[in-house]
Amino acid sequence: MSQQLLSSTHSDKSAIYAQLLAQIEALSSGEPDLIAVLANISAALKMTFDWLWVGFYLVQPPELVLGPFQGPLACTRIAYGKGVCGSAWQQARTLRVDDVAAFPGHIVCSSLARSEIVVPLFNSAGQVCGVLDVDADTLGHFDPVDAAGLEALAARLRPRFDRSPASAL
Ligand code: SME
Repeated sequence: MSQQLLSSTHSDKSAIYAQLLAQIEALSSGEPDLIAVLANISAALKMTFDWLWVGFYLVQPPELVLGPFQGPLACTRIAYGKGVCGSAWQQARTLRVDDVAAFPGHIVCSSLARSEIVVPLFNSAGQVCGVLDVDADTLGHFDPVDAAGLEALAARLRPRFDRSPASAL
């Protein structure tokens, strides 16, 4: 890949997200394979923000199954309504958790995780086809700018889930 990824030292996080989205669009265009695209997105996010863990869980009813990610080993399956990921799927909305220890039913994948954000991935019919999950090793790490940036990314992925098996399930 010839593109240079952005540094996370940039002072304006919204601008980082905007540029990252453009980069992701550029490196994804022409690639029809969903897993290949999600793999590069997880790498781009990890390199840009240096989060503890970032990756995807994809809906394979009746549960979520681990997809491309960057970071420590993770649990492979999460039930509907369980943990932060299964709750974001059930509620079909972004969940921002400042302190994972205070979230009832939080699923511990890494003991280093302190805060988390989970963004649902919708198809064009409004079905949740997966989630984008991010963990940080500090409390209260994610703010509304992160939620907006990651939701914008999820919106760009929407048409890809129209073609993925997950949306048919
Ligand atoms: N903490 C998540 C589980 C996935 S890992 O963080 C990678 C949850 O409670 O759903």
